[in-house]
Amino acid sequence: MNLRLLAELCDGRFHSGEILAENLNVSRAVISTQVAELNALDLGIEAVPGKGYRLPGGLELLSAERLHYALDVPTREMIETVDIVPQLDSTNAELLRRPPITPGRAAVCVAERQSAGRGRRGREWVSPFARNLYLSVAWDFVEGVAVLWGLSLAVGVAVAEALLKCGLPAPRLKWPNDIHYEGRKCGGVLIEVNGDAAGPCRAVVGIGLNVRMPAASAAAVDQPWIDLAAVAGKVPLARNALLAAVLNEVVPLLRSYPERGFAPLRSRWCALDAHAGRQVMVDMGNRRVAGVARGVDQRGGLLLETASGIQTIHSGDVSLRVAAADAMAG
Ligand code: BTN
Repeated sequence: MNLRLLAELCDGRFHSGEILAENLNVSRAVISTQVAELNALDLGIEAVPGKGYRLPGGLELLSAERLHYALDVPTREMIETVDIVPQLDSTNAELLRRPPITPGRAAVCVAERQSAGRGRRGREWVSPFARNLYLSVAWDFVEGVAVLWGLSLAVGVAVAEALLKCGLPAPRLKWPNDIHYEGRKCGGVLIEVNGDAAGPCRAVVGIGLNVRMPAASAAAVDQPWIDLAAVAGKVPLARNALLAAVLNEVVPLLRSYPERGFAPLRSRWCALDAHAGRQVMVDMGNRRVAGVARGVDQRGGLLLETASGIQTIHSGDVSLRVAAADAMAG
């Protein structure tokens, strides 16, 4: 992938093949081949005889420099490394491979595209090039995994706050941590942990946000989805600013989490709950339970009011679906 060629085309204007070839010091035939390579990433670059090449609508690439200036100073100081790369298998997988991180600091990895993006419950996270956001934040906890109760819900709240701070409408949270608008999924959180159950561990917080999902990739998404472009209205969508806003919430959250835990965020989570008071079905693999969603407890467990009383559900493998009758009632 020729990133210099892409950078030239990001302004959304026409560029003649001749001038591109001159600027990049290659032949026009090479430019044509490289445009075809970029188009294999679903960028939709047009070639118009007599005018040249154009990337309709332009494209905002992620930039370490722009991110740096958009981060709050305390957040910046809590980050040990930031890597923004054109493509990776998975930003979560990458940070799980990394050597130890200085205690009290985060490692951040962001990719423009993931070839093996990981979602919850073994799903694929569809990750087309440069249209959405795929980021992971790694934090080494000396306290062990016990301090991580509820962290994925807390991250959902942090992402919701970031979207609000960017001027977007308030999303809803679907237990445990899906980011929803209009009943469809716009983002998700996958936390992967390695290390000793009782000793130090690394939590890699992976966040995927659909910003402008290209039509060609949408077919691969296996659940009802929405992107921020569909809800933003007149609010400008700048991926670098969104990325910074998410990091400004998530990194300080990770630092304070061992001390504070989920409890102070519980009421906020419940205020954003997509299913509060609704009839739902909880799927636990070989078992399904029906009930009314009654928010979450201090540790992020789902409170389900069933015929036999309140059940608390903690398993990460639980899926929540609005029951058919409730969905029909609207
Ligand atoms: C979900 O299924 O709801 C969780 C999706 C998490 C996707 C993000 S994208 C960045 C990070 N890297 C991955 O491979 N997955 C997470």
